[in-house]
Amino acid sequence: MKNRVKVDLLIKNGQVVTASHKEYPARGNKMKHLEVIERGWVACAGDKIVAVGSEEEVSAAVEIGEKTQVIDATNQVVSPGLIDPHTHLVFGGSREDEFYRRAQGADYMDIMRSGGGIASSVRATRATPLEDLVASARQRLNWMLRMGVTTVECKSGYGLDLDTELKQLEAVRILQGSQPIELVSTFLGAHAWPGEFKDDHQGYLDFLVEIALPRIRNEGLAEYVDVFTEKGVFSVEQSRRIFQKASELGFKLRVHADEMHTLGGAELAAEMGMSSADHLLMVSEQGIKALSESDVIPILLPGTAFALRKPYAPARKMLDAGLPLALATDFNPGSSPTANLALVMSIACIHMAMTPEEVFNAVTINAAHSLGRSNRLGSIEVGKQADLVLFDVDNYRKIPYFFGVNLVTKVIKRGQLV
Ligand code: NIG
Ligand code: FE
Repeated sequence: MKNRVKVDLLIKNGQVVTASHKEYPARGNKMKHLEVIERGWVACAGDKIVAVGSEEEVSAAVEIGEKTQVIDATNQVVSPGLIDPHTHLVFGGSREDEFYRRAQGADYMDIMRSGGGIASSVRATRATPLEDLVASARQRLNWMLRMGVTTVECKSGYGLDLDTELKQLEAVRILQGSQPIELVSTFLGAHAWPGEFKDDHQGYLDFLVEIALPRIRNEGLAEYVDVFTEKGVFSVEQSRRIFQKASELGFKLRVHADEMHTLGGAELAAEMGMSSADHLLMVSEQGIKALSESDVIPILLPGTAFALRKPYAPARKMLDAGLPLALATDFNPGSSPTANLALVMSIACIHMAMTPEEVFNAVTINAAHSLGRSNRLGSIEVGKQADLVLFDVDNYRKIPYFFGVNLVTKVIKRGQLV
């Protein structure tokens, strides 16, 4: 009994819920399954989980002393910190005017074509100083943290010129480490055609490939590159050119695929070995097949279908094809202004017929995997980072069931109660 690890933080007697161990991502039967420990204990030292199990197992494995901070989780669920793998976090202004217009029947793409939509957020983001972008994004991250989210992917794409794209990515860099949530940065310069290039698409593609991508790579400002591959936005061919260059430069890839139209974004993701293909409301049978023969994580964003009154992505078909789905909010000022990932889990259960087990795997281990972080994040296992959330219910199935209610009581990031 000597040299046992001294525990800094102990969470005891909760219903400990986590993705099954070792093999990531979760797909097929694994996706239908969660490990559950009733009256479970989780011990953390520094930023790591050092023991998980029953009271007997944990007390035998590690040293619980006077200095150990103890949290009683009786009648609460203890889950891995939730991971939101697709957001447009940093933007200036807001677009509640379009919310009114859509309520009266206007369509998202029509608003975009008439100069609103993304273009309106581009104008506002260009006009907003860096420190104000940081302040508003910090407030949004605080909303997310209070809802149990401990890791967030953030895309640029409301600049569409070098200075503003850099300003958005710089905002993410400033926020990384100056608040508790871990951020993953993605360059989405190909989010729309900027007004300056409306008659010169080739010119904007040249700018992205020859100037923006190398500069962002050199400055280490993004880990991923994303493109809005969509009818009237970036074609599959145009997207491929951007992705090819990004890949050569060492970026990893994600894509807005088959959101409003069936265009072949899923197939492109499979062809290029991307980390994720996101949205997929209009994915084809062929697209599903291509994904099932690849390692791409399909990320579904049902908050967007909900807010735009669009058909939901065919989640059951994809699950039956063995795809390791993840879920995200798509938090953005237009199509999905929600920071509530637990609500997205509920919408996925209600409208896409996913089970509570599947949605938990989707926002923990599979979301982590899509961000290249499943070795460190996304499950409660010895050796992993201590990112944990406590919910004020005694059974994880009640979390998506009580939809829209924020049940989070405590959030632990890197072993620290935040
Ligand atoms: O993921 N689809 C493109 N981009 C965002 C919406 C951005 C916006 O409306 O500002 C999305 O839905
Ligand atoms: Fe998006």
